[in-house]
Amino acid sequence: MKFKLAQKNTECKYQVFIVDDEKKLSHIEGLTPTEVGYVTEMIKNDHSLITVNQFNKFYIVYQVNIQKSDAQTRDTCRKGGADIQPILQKYKAEEVIVHTLSSHTFAATMLAEGLALANYQFLKYKSDAAKSQSKLATIFLEKSAASVKEVDQLNVITEAIYRVRSLVNEPLNHLSAVGLSEAIEAMGKEAGFKVTVLDKAKIQKEKMGGLLAVNAGSIEPPTFTIMEYKPKKCLNKAPIVLVGKGIVFDTGGVSLKPTLNSMDKMKSDMSGAALVSGVMFAVASLGLPLHLIALVPATDNRPGENAYVPGDVITMYSGKTVEVLNTDAEGRMVLADALHWAKRYEPELVMDFATLTGAASAAIGEHGIVCMGTADDMVKKALRESGYRQYERLVEFPMWDEYGEQIKSDVADIKNVGGATGGAITAGKFLEHFIEYPWMHFDIAGVSLSSAKKGYIPSGGTAYGLRMVMDYLLHYGKI
Ligand code: BES
Ligand code: MN
Ligand code: ZN
Repeated sequence: MKFKLAQKNTECKYQVFIVDDEKKLSHIEGLTPTEVGYVTEMIKNDHSLITVNQFNKFYIVYQVNIQKSDAQTRDTCRKGGADIQPILQKYKAEEVIVHTLSSHTFAATMLAEGLALANYQFLKYKSDAAKSQSKLATIFLEKSAASVKEVDQLNVITEAIYRVRSLVNEPLNHLSAVGLSEAIEAMGKEAGFKVTVLDKAKIQKEKMGGLLAVNAGSIEPPTFTIMEYKPKKCLNKAPIVLVGKGIVFDTGGVSLKPTLNSMDKMKSDMSGAALVSGVMFAVASLGLPLHLIALVPATDNRPGENAYVPGDVITMYSGKTVEVLNTDAEGRMVLADALHWAKRYEPELVMDFATLTGAASAAIGEHGIVCMGTADDMVKKALRESGYRQYERLVEFPMWDEYGEQIKSDVADIKNVGGATGGAITAGKFLEHFIEYPWMHFDIAGVSLSSAKKGYIPSGGTAYGLRMVMDYLLHYGKI
């Protein structure tokens, strides 16, 4: 998908007009007074999407329902774009132009974004892909509706989201830990960031006990991927480090997940890894003045012959010992080693993204991300605002000391499960044992994979969280 600014001579059959005041309908060039009357009547009857099919022009008028806050109105526009997508697909439209008569300057870019996000398809494994493929390839934006910079950002961020979604959608038999690190290497080459992959021998040499324990039951080797983007001019003095959980499939290990349904989503257990790779891709492609590092510990979690078992005491990369009481709490094991690795950079901020707990998903469902951490209030506020602006909202959970009591072990420094209550928080408390810097943890278990298409969120991988992070980084240093 490409976004382009329309030129004077841009000709396009499919024309979207955004309005929020029906009095302006007569400003739509090309509609007859009868057609304007028809559209006005439809809007009066609470229709928000009205089409007028002429011989050589196809008009789609979208009436924005203005919400209480701009962030909500922005999301309404994205959803409007998503509603337009099936119409364009049905007519096999290749190009569309978005005009706006709305008083909200963001209306056109947001509608275009929603349209592009809804147009994503994962047809790689469909024999009849050509049949169901959307033909839409270019979204023109009327010149006054967007700036060159906005168009650039839309292009790059949409591309990053498509890539993240496709990585998440790849099943284990097409994307192992090695495959994931190779995909990241390819993204690095394309966008211009450095990628180093530690193989199993190097991971063993480093004594990354958490990652190796989870990998022990697998026949495939683990990988530890380090991405770095460091342009000449940087706004941040110390790097910002992103960490992404890269469990390419989670069977639960010996503490096997019950087979009915609970394993169905587990190819998406590398969504954090996909997300941080996508952020690196977008930041490098846009050439943002930020020093950024991303770390991805990757393996599948399997109950193979040599698998780690409940009761095992693992010496982690940091030297701390962990009593494993459930091999299905594997995400924290691999993340802990990556968080320890991050200390070497003396980072200004570390943000980890992980499909970590069913508890986070149970607590707030698919409408936001559970977060927690030790970053200062200014950082938390900026993140919260980015989440709200992008409608990938954040809910902060407390990290009270008392929750830490739940992961005390009789035999080791800590144990990897915290009991029946507060599961998302006890997972966070576990990770806290491995940090020595300002840190935020994002549990994306509830949002990374969607069971059905909902507006601009497709079924399958969503890349939920990427726009929130990009918004934060694009605003970095501007507050
Ligand atoms: N990958 C899962 C969490 C998950 C669940 C992600 C549902 C997406 C959807 C994670 O590794 C896991 O199994 N967590 C356990 C932890 C428990 C054993 C302490 C969980 O949440 O049940
Ligand atoms: Mn698990
Ligand atoms: Zn997992």
